[in-house]
Amino acid sequence: MRRPVSIAPPKGKLGILTPGMGAVSTTLMAGVELVRRGHSAPVGSLTQMGTVRLGKRTENRIPRIKDFVKLAELDDLVFGGWDVFPDNAHQAATKAGVLDPRDLAKAEKLLKTIRPMKAAFDQNYVKNLHGTHVKKGKTKFDLAEQIREDIRDFKKKNKLDRLVMVWCASTEVFLKPEDVHKDLQSFEKAMKTNHPSIAPSMLYAYAAISEGVPFANGAPNLTVDIPALEDYAKTKNVPIGGKDFKTGQTLMKTVLAPAFKARMLGLNGWFSTNILGNRDGEVLDDPGSFKTKEESKLGALEYILQPNLYPQLYGQIHHKVRINYYPPRRDNKEGWDNIDIFGWLGYPMQIKVDFLCRDSILAAPIVLDLALFFDLAKRAGMRGIQEWLSFYFKSPMCARTVYPEHDLFIQLMKLKNTLRWMMGEDLITHLGAEYYD
Ligand SMILES: NC(=O)c1ccc[n+]([C@@H]2O[C@H](COP(=O)([O-])OP(=O)(O)OC[C@H]3O[C@@H](n4cnc5c(N)ncnc54)[C@H](O)[C@@H]3O)[C@@H](O)[C@H]2O)c1
Repeated sequence: MRRPVSIAPPKGKLGILTPGMGAVSTTLMAGVELVRRGHSAPVGSLTQMGTVRLGKRTENRIPRIKDFVKLAELDDLVFGGWDVFPDNAHQAATKAGVLDPRDLAKAEKLLKTIRPMKAAFDQNYVKNLHGTHVKKGKTKFDLAEQIREDIRDFKKKNKLDRLVMVWCASTEVFLKPEDVHKDLQSFEKAMKTNHPSIAPSMLYAYAAISEGVPFANGAPNLTVDIPALEDYAKTKNVPIGGKDFKTGQTLMKTVLAPAFKARMLGLNGWFSTNILGNRDGEVLDDPGSFKTKEESKLGALEYILQPNLYPQLYGQIHHKVRINYYPPRRDNKEGWDNIDIFGWLGYPMQIKVDFLCRDSILAAPIVLDLALFFDLAKRAGMRGIQEWLSFYFKSPMCARTVYPEHDLFIQLMKLKNTLRWMMGEDLITHLGAEYYD
């Protein structure tokens, strides 16, 4: 990838389109409105609160990220989306029950104006959803064309300068890359013949890329992680990325596992279980959708711990992930981890993590950051997979020639170094030898 020669300024309005207007998406919309009106702070958002050090530690140059790289302002964001239910964002947020009604009331006026467009949906890919607000079309290609039209209409109606799309819809059943995904020609043919390996999420991704709109995938579905769409994104100069927002349990995993490896502590097993009661939990109660999530959650440890390099420490790990749908908890997920580690002379120890979190509260700032950074990437002329945004994903997409980077701290360093690189600043290696000359 070449260093951007120039980065277009974020002038005008930026549209954030989300397939899926459920808990995560409406918590984002309401949250941005609360921040814009001065009612709340954008906690959890690196783009809004984070800083980046430039130059030597003695220079004291530490601008806020959003000032350093010129990101779109919150006041310039316009929200839209698609859903299989016709509820406006206020009704959807009320049903999701993430935010306190008093907070929602402060954003009510805006949320009521955000009505979902009809979804490209097929229950074969999300078994536990029974939606009514869906598009009709003879072929999957027709549906993709309709999404393209929605994108153009939305842009025109709202007088937008730019758009980004972030998949915030349900987790689809597990699909593997196949021949129909190998190149654009096969992919388009498969859409036209309604091939079962073309999931609805792929239609949104295809439509976004066709319209020059960056696409980020917040769920673990295969979606844009296929050669056909990767190549298409490069041809159309569109940034893409995914998969699966890294919010709670995997965030902890990608913090703790690097610590064990750094100290050469061994690991025998990691048992992770969750209870959650929101619609996401209901969807994940279906074995097909759970399999997609399970694969996404399992990958991190293997890549971080490198059992091939450290067989004595990590050669025999029992890694299990469970998700249990338990309605009383709604969006307030509880994630337990039992970690069996061993130390000096092989003596065993245990660590227990009990994270009483809030799924959408953790996810909403990630969607915001991804939207703003993908817009930046597009303005900077960056295309294809944006690996520097792995920081936000449980199962980061990367070039086929390398393995994904899961360690949260390496991901953060990579993200900040990419920003420095884009702006022509020195990269920070943390060597620091010059302070001791
Ligand atoms: N909240 C988190 O911490 C977190 C973390 C990682 C990933 N995710 C993923 O983010 C996604 C959103 O999570 P959520 O809690 O908002 O779920 P949700 O069930 O509240 O919202 C998803 C919405 O997508 C809609 N939908 C399903 N298929 C669609 C389609 N084809 N087109 C348009 N809309 C469609 C559903 O009707 C639903 O309203 C899920 O896939 C979830 O697995 C969430």
